[in-house]
Amino acid sequence: MSGRSRLDAFVVAAPGLEALLLDELTRLDVRPARAVKGGVECSVTWPQLWAVHLRSRLATRVLVRVWRFRATTWGELEAGLKGVQWGEWLADDAVLDVQATCSKSSALYHSDAVAERAAAVIGRPAGDQVVQVRVLDDVVTVSLDATGPALFKRGWRGPAGRAPMRETLAAALVLASGWDRRSPLVDPFCGSGTVAIEAAMIARRMAPGRRRSFAFQQWPTFSADAWGRLLRGADGDVIDRCPPILASDRDDGAVAAAQENAAAAGVGEQVDVQRRSISDLTLPARAGWLVTNPPYGRRVGGEGGGAGAGAGAGGGDVRDLYDRFGQVLRASGAGWRIAVLAAKETPVARLGLPFTSAVHTSNGGIPVDVWCGQVAPPA
Ligand SMILES: C[S@@+](CC[C@H](N)C(=O)[O-])C[C@H]1O[C@@H](n2cnc3c(N)ncnc32)[C@H](O)[C@@H]1O
Repeated sequence: MSGRSRLDAFVVAAPGLEALLLDELTRLDVRPARAVKGGVECSVTWPQLWAVHLRSRLATRVLVRVWRFRATTWGELEAGLKGVQWGEWLADDAVLDVQATCSKSSALYHSDAVAERAAAVIGRPAGDQVVQVRVLDDVVTVSLDATGPALFKRGWRGPAGRAPMRETLAAALVLASGWDRRSPLVDPFCGSGTVAIEAAMIARRMAPGRRRSFAFQQWPTFSADAWGRLLRGADGDVIDRCPPILASDRDDGAVAAAQENAAAAGVGEQVDVQRRSISDLTLPARAGWLVTNPPYGRRVGGEGGGAGAGAGAGGGDVRDLYDRFGQVLRASGAGWRIAVLAAKETPVARLGLPFTSAVHTSNGGIPVDVWCGQVAPPA
């Protein structure tokens, strides 16, 4: 291991998920940690860095800060970069992708030029280990991406459907809903199954990073023995008990994709996927949580009733859909708690429930809210 026992890390989250991520990291014993715009700044040990990758359901990636200095000239940038002990962080044969972002308030404000200059000074062949050089108000921060492909790529997704949501957002939706992990959970607009699969993994305490590899595994500080212990610990935490998780969609292709994805994620037995239109849904008598990402009704048109965020459901159609959804809730949903991911244009009000926004974030570039409410319990 390197001489450092603690690392400065920046755990990146989708905007709006910072507070949920801070809560999750605190539960993973990551301290001190502080939510800032776009993520959480924290101090971690090496095993904690690895454990966050294995266990975080909300993080997008983790950047490790390796060096910081002031630079207002190319000479200062080059001298500063020469101070980084690359051998402490990276294997001798590591191949790098040097990226830069600069604030306009810096003397060195041209990102492409900074990236080029930095790559030349570092002098390693081009490849996939990302080195990030950030210049903010003349302060240069050099970070290494510990993650590789973003953490929402859990390694189980096969067929994507037409508008799959990110696994990190699906997990955020389930966590923000306040689901107790013991009551039934229903997603009647399941698409490729992301919400139901994340819910089953949460209930069974399955580590989301169990099926993939990470950039830090190529670093000289990586310990295969310690990692093996973390994996065995994560496997030991998994429980079989899981409440009923019911996923349905009116689209045959979505149903097939959800079944395939659930099996690949190791929760095929826990997630019950059925082909059903919302009009035919009857909620189980035992009240639980309905957690879903219905068509937004943002894009008008599309080819038929597919899985697009609003495909096949122009403004009027989507109003009908929400009216029918509201009828289902009134008919069989007494006492059910509802969490709906919706865009600004989505007519959530037609569900006829008092809702409050639990999270404001974005999905595929569209600003969205997680609206939470409850159908009145039986009198
Ligand atoms: C935004 S997508 C859900 C995406 C999903 N969260 C995922 O990760 O793949 C909305 C889904 O609602 C389904 N849908 C549209 N109208 C429906 C209806 N009337 N009844 C049931 N499902 C419907 C579509 O087929 C689509 O799969």
